[in-house]
Amino acid sequence: MKHKVSVTLNGNQREDEVESRLLLVHYLRDVAGLTGTHVGCDTSQCGACTVHVDGKAVKSCTMFAVQADGRDVRTIEGMAARDGTLHPIQQAFWDGRGRQCGYCTPGVIMAAADLLEQNPDPSDEEIRKGLEGNLCRCTGYVNIVKAVQTAARIMATEAPRPAASPVAGE
Ligand code: FES
Ligand code: FES
Repeated sequence: MKHKVSVTLNGNQREDEVESRLLLVHYLRDVAGLTGTHVGCDTSQCGACTVHVDGKAVKSCTMFAVQADGRDVRTIEGMAARDGTLHPIQQAFWDGRGRQCGYCTPGVIMAAADLLEQNPDPSDEEIRKGLEGNLCRCTGYVNIVKAVQTAARIMATEAPRPAASPVAGE
């Protein structure tokens, strides 16, 4: 049986008919075509699927698409500005080699964005704690922590960003 789901996805409103047991991560990737959200495990442990739901980081493999009905969802594709300018966290990961294979990176960036929203000036330890639900098999986390610190410094000096950046692909 299918259910209607209505979400604001990266600033754009959309409605779809989905199976009741379709996971949000599969809705994002397979229905909305937003493949920046990755699937890295089947045990809800890796964090590669992390997105924002109503502004909070959520592992999108842990909820059904129908549970996102009426809510605001942001994926990695919605982090850059409309003109393509990368979000400071994205830029810091790029500049500071905060990623190697990049598979974990979208989820790490979404988790880091939530972390910095709650704590704009985190210590190393607080960053590691905040990102403990996101596993990276490549970097050893050193450059990830540095990139989050760099982003925090940049974000502290710039004007607030708009709440949503509608993107193509939804
Ligand atoms: Fe969601 Fe691994 S795919 S936590
Ligand atoms: Fe490869 Fe994190 S950069 S898993």
